Amino acid sequence: MKQPLVIAPSILSADFARLGEDTRLALEAGADWVHFDVMDNHYVPNLTIGPLVCKALRDYGITAPIDVHLMIEPVDRIIPDFAEAGASLISIHPETTRHLDRSLSLIRECGCKTGIVFNPATPLDVLDWVIDKVDLVLLMSVNPGFGGQQFIPSALAKLKQARRIIDESELEIRLEVDGGVKPGNAADIIAAGADTLVAGSAIFGADDYAEVIRALRGQTTA
Ligand code: DX5
Ligand code: ZN
Repeated sequence: MKQPLVIAPSILSADFARLGEDTRLALEAGADWVHFDVMDNHYVPNLTIGPLVCKALRDYGITAPIDVHLMIEPVDRIIPDFAEAGASLISIHPETTRHLDRSLSLIRECGCKTGIVFNPATPLDVLDWVIDKVDLVLLMSVNPGFGGQQFIPSALAKLKQARRIIDESELEIRLEVDGGVKPGNAADIIAAGADTLVAGSAIFGADDYAEVIRALRGQTTA
């Protein structure tokens, strides 16, 4: 069953020189979660932030769920560090671990919710075998590594497929979309089955975060 819509601004597009403040502004503007992109210049061709920054956001006073998206390889060594640093949910790409089932179990043992991430060209096959260990399915609608890319339309068909699998499982699993999400395509993405929207450049690139967040929710603006 579909859960209430969550908007998760990707802080990849925030002002890193004033990260705490910019994150707080997005939450005050109506966002629900903080989407935290971790890149290693190995699994993806970019380098970003680690557990120290996650902890810094907690120390700054951010209490909203932090949705950590690991684009790093391997993952197991760093999972406990993110849990310790205040992550609420940790998502991993299946191809970044030799033992997906073990890595998902490790995330739960550390007290966090689990997410599994599928790149645009990656089939959903493995989901069948780990679905009972998954709290969130994240479909990439761009190739991971950078903010500000164009939404890949095939993600809509894949969303419908993922929605079907989740509904048939009767488990409480969120369906999140990441990449190129903006007010102009949010309605189609939600209609295809998503209940959690990541948006980086669309929110942090705007003058009025609240207006974009309302538009993503399909609420008309004045
Ligand atoms: C890309 C990241 C995304 C990215 C989305 O690898 O996982 O979270 O920040 O940015 P936008 O919303 O600008 O496409
Ligand atoms: Zn992401």
